[in-house]
Amino acid sequence: MIHLAVNIDHIATLREARGGIEPDPVAAASIAELAGAIGIVCHLREDRRHINDRDLRLLRETIKTKLDLEMAATEEIITIALDTLPDLVTLVPERREERTTEGGLDVASNLVYYTQVVARMHQNDIAVSFFVEPQRDQINAAATAGADIVELHTGTFANARSSHEQQEELRKLREAAAYAASLGLNVTAGHGLNYVNVRSICTIPEIQEVSIGHAIIARAAFVGLDTAVRDMVRLLQVYSH
Ligand code: PXP
Repeated sequence: MIHLAVNIDHIATLREARGGIEPDPVAAASIAELAGAIGIVCHLREDRRHINDRDLRLLRETIKTKLDLEMAATEEIITIALDTLPDLVTLVPERREERTTEGGLDVASNLVYYTQVVARMHQNDIAVSFFVEPQRDQINAAATAGADIVELHTGTFANARSSHEQQEELRKLREAAAYAASLGLNVTAGHGLNYVNVRSICTIPEIQEVSIGHAIIARAAFVGLDTAVRDMVRLLQVYSH
């Protein structure tokens, strides 16, 4: 069965909209865990637009499943990661102007640098995931750099306008997942997944986990976070085996 990691950045985004103390992403993480999430993801951005250093500190203290710190591999954030010791870091590209992460990381063009980053994380028992496009060159680079996991970027699949385009993107994801697994990598997927399109993702046997934020937090506004997480866990149970 595919497991669910819940990205709680949007809870912090809502808090930052008023600059106060609620809603608290730390409380959201506990609710998501109680509802069946096997991991909590948060992205500490350079501009701290949602998750901040206090959140990360408290999340590290309180999360009982797995803390996945999504991050750009800059020296500032690497230092924080080595200090905080999340269970896992997911390395992503980051641009200040973007609304959310756009596209996968170009590991292949920066292989020497990312190999060093992986080594520093591993020295501290932190597992490393690379968020990559479903492309062999990037998957090869992630494996060469020593990654434990590749998270396949599902954004293009999720944004496909026609069913033909969606099937084509699904085919790329399927091939990439099989290829990554053949190299000994663990395979996860995320970005743009929701209560409808996750069904197709569940047909890819190598995918062990999905990382979902927006769709779950959006649904939570209407039905509550506990129900929103349970609904997704139930779908994953039904659609994957
Ligand atoms: N995985 C990665 C690497 C991401 O950057 C994001 C967005 O923060 C997600 C998963 C979750 O995407 P969404 O919010 O669209 O579910």
